[in-house]
Amino acid sequence: MNRYRGSFLLLCGLMLMMRGSAAAEEAAASEVSPGVWRICLGQPEKLTPTHFQTQPPGVESLKALPPDRDLPIDLHRISGKESCHSFTITLPLESGEQLYGFGLSPELFAMRGRRVNLRPTDNPENDRGESHAPVPFYVSTRGYGVFVDTARYTQFFCGVPAPTNADAALAESKPAQVKSADNSLHPVTVLVDAAKGADVYVFAGPSMADAVRRYNLFAGGGPVPPLWGLGMWYRGKGDLSAQESERLAQSFRDEHVPCDVWGIEPGWQTKTYSSSFVWATNHFPDPDGFIRKMHQMGFRLNFWEHAFTHPSSPMFADLQPWSGDHRVWGGLAPDFATPDARRIFLAHHEGVLFSKGADGLKLDECDHQPYDPKRWSFPDGAKFPSGLDGEQMHSLFGMLYQQTMLKPLTRRGLRTWGLVRNSQALATTLPYGVYSDSYDHRGYVRGLLNEGFSGLLWVPELRDCASVEDLYRRVETLIFSPVAQVNCWYLKNPPWLQIDKAKNNAGDFMPDHKEVTAVIRRLFNLRMSLIPYLYAAFNEYHLTGSPPVRALVLDWPDDPQTYRLDDQFMFGPSLMVAPMFAGQTRRSVYLPAGDWYDFRTREKLAGGRKIDMAAASDQIPVFVKADSLVPLAKPMEYVGNDACFEITVHMYGDHPAPFTLFEDDGVTLDFARGQQNRVELSWRDGKGSVTQAGGYHGPARYHIVDWTDR
Ligand code: GAL
Repeated sequence: MNRYRGSFLLLCGLMLMMRGSAAAEEAAASEVSPGVWRICLGQPEKLTPTHFQTQPPGVESLKALPPDRDLPIDLHRISGKESCHSFTITLPLESGEQLYGFGLSPELFAMRGRRVNLRPTDNPENDRGESHAPVPFYVSTRGYGVFVDTARYTQFFCGVPAPTNADAALAESKPAQVKSADNSLHPVTVLVDAAKGADVYVFAGPSMADAVRRYNLFAGGGPVPPLWGLGMWYRGKGDLSAQESERLAQSFRDEHVPCDVWGIEPGWQTKTYSSSFVWATNHFPDPDGFIRKMHQMGFRLNFWEHAFTHPSSPMFADLQPWSGDHRVWGGLAPDFATPDARRIFLAHHEGVLFSKGADGLKLDECDHQPYDPKRWSFPDGAKFPSGLDGEQMHSLFGMLYQQTMLKPLTRRGLRTWGLVRNSQALATTLPYGVYSDSYDHRGYVRGLLNEGFSGLLWVPELRDCASVEDLYRRVETLIFSPVAQVNCWYLKNPPWLQIDKAKNNAGDFMPDHKEVTAVIRRLFNLRMSLIPYLYAAFNEYHLTGSPPVRALVLDWPDDPQTYRLDDQFMFGPSLMVAPMFAGQTRRSVYLPAGDWYDFRTREKLAGGRKIDMAAASDQIPVFVKADSLVPLAKPMEYVGNDACFEITVHMYGDHPAPFTLFEDDGVTLDFARGQQNRVELSWRDGKGSVTQAGGYHGPARYHIVDWTDR
């Protein structure tokens, strides 16, 4: 139950009346958190994302955002009405306004002029808006955000005509992009499936970025990763034994290829689809010994699983009463909305994984397959003991599963950084990256941009590749992402030894694999050198709600040139990344107003224009905003608990703004209790200075060795 709903309740009917125009249907609006307004339409359902919210809104941080005295959306003009199959919400839309958000669609970007269908799917390569993490939240370039608090499937008609209710079912089969000659005439219409009402939350600006921050802070703020989570991740082939995994892991250390997290794919269990959650002792005869050995080599361990529970699982009988009435792959679908399912699942996981030292999980298959002939998952009409039906559970399953599986680590006072294949609204605080089986590189980049609008983190992972060039280009993207993962779940060897799947598995390596490995090592080292910078960006996400990866339109909402830029993004406060794709030798890059520097050559470039950029296949175009300090660390092969980063502070421009590093133990949750220092780097009068304040008294994390403008 959401303990926070209703706090700060401040009825503002009077204020609404003073705003003027009489609305056809007046709904009460209340300010539920600073700058967050709730409008109750019809009879909202009880089991919605806010109901299951576990983190309180960051009220103090919300208060610290700039006040928005003139909310640019008239709350008075938000209305709802019940119709026979859905609840219809209408929201105003002005001409010239552009909309973004709706979760992690890798295919769509600027949403005005589109119909966006929000329902989870494991196949996000579609133009309907369905994805692993559909989120009924959008933001506008006019500086506000809108969240419809529902676990139902929704359709958003963003400035295009919505069907009357009788047409709604028909609209399902029509193309998603409905072009309208004059879409300024149409409002945003939302059809909420099978509901009689919904709460609509409006997030104030004043800027679009502030509205995103407000949404993220309302959800509890961004997660702070363990430092190791920001290093490189590698997942071995699904059927590798303990011995094979250890041998392969050792080869990373021998070759000095950085790696922090080792992923164990399905083969650790006796049954996988559905899952037994029992060690396969033929492959892993000594799980404790294996985990110990990998830890000694400096790897953190992340284990694959999904929730559907095989009849041979020791928890099957106990879990049965707390599961849905449909099985998936012959296994139970646990109802994580019930304390009993959570308790049983956690007790079992404590024994098999966490007491042995597991550092995190990859929560697979918690999305849905609505269309494929080989469809899986429970049907929309399934019933669960908590009262959720299959449709609601599809929207919430990933969230509830993430919340549940965090517990063993948080109980120990530890952070984790994991993976999940389904997420939803208000997931900002959850320390999981969303990944996919889809493999379109351009879509992966778009996913990175879209994540920043809806409080999500996206994982543009590497598997096999069409060419060495494709390998480099994909790695260049993933090192600039929240979770830098190589997922070789079907490859015996790393793709830099052989890109071709069949040859890779036959151990037949490319003749130039040593040169290719050298390039990969260099690119991974670049990621490792960015860890302190990225860690600071995540701490800002936690404290201010500002996402670490952002589409340019979030930082330059008044520049229409950024409105459709779906292949460049900001990474942290001052780096702008323009990934390239296999087949490209040059690309056009838009530099917003102001001066910029080429990150590699330091060439100064005037902004407010497009430039044509050439880059060799092993180089990614990255630019630095003028007047920035960028701390870069000497790369490590992995981030041990006692790691101290040797930092060179790079200066760009004549008057660089200060940069704050965050220093703490890097692994526990003590930072949230004040055991964290802020290390402020500043450059004034030709001299660098470092000031430090805070309650962390452990070993130093940072050693500033140099300042340079070269
Ligand atoms: C898929 C998942 C892959 C891999 C595979 C193992 O569902 O998306 O990343 O884990 O299962 O069977």
